[in-house]
Amino acid sequence: MKIKNPKLWHKMPGGIIEGENVLYSRKYLKDVENLYKSKEISNEGKNTLMYEVYSYSEGDETQYGNLFWGLTILHPVYIEKECNMTKGHFHENRNCVEYYFGLEGEGLLLLMDEMGQMSAEKVLPGSLHYIAGNFAHRLVNIGEIPLKIGACWPTTAGHDYRAVEEMPFPYRIYKNNGKIELVER
Ligand code: F6R
Ligand code: ZN
Repeated sequence: MKIKNPKLWHKMPGGIIEGENVLYSRKYLKDVENLYKSKEISNEGKNTLMYEVYSYSEGDETQYGNLFWGLTILHPVYIEKECNMTKGHFHENRNCVEYYFGLEGEGLLLLMDEMGQMSAEKVLPGSLHYIAGNFAHRLVNIGEIPLKIGACWPTTAGHDYRAVEEMPFPYRIYKNNGKIELVER
């Protein structure tokens, strides 16, 4: 019997599990510019790479009980002092929970319930975050290096971005002279 090499999941960008079922997407500022307060983004700025998402599963994604394993890399970008953030979403299926865990860098995880109440958790290497199914979640990079987090969630969860567009997270996150500020909209 041959012993198999393990999947080095945190090295997904290294292509260790390339050729298997890895999905990859990336967002440029032009894709997410409406999240930011600033309306003065240059055409050149719009091509800034903001974040990358890898996700991986085996077997049938429509099968209840199957899981995604994911890696999000959020680059250290500030738009007039506002911190880089993911779009943020609820899961379409509000029963589907998720775990995030910090790998590298420094961030915040914003959690918002369906009434629009928000809380924030510090994300750092080794931190573990349980995201209940009925909470919208957004990651924010508050550091100077890429924020890398791992994630695990059901393949049948889906992404509901529309609910967050209609009821945005109530705080914007800024870094001002090294200090993190949560500013109410
Ligand atoms: C999956 C999940 C993450 C995010 C990723 C990008 O349920 O929460 O994989 O999808 O961090 O964030 P969004 O999808 O909000 O752009
Ligand atoms: Zn999610």
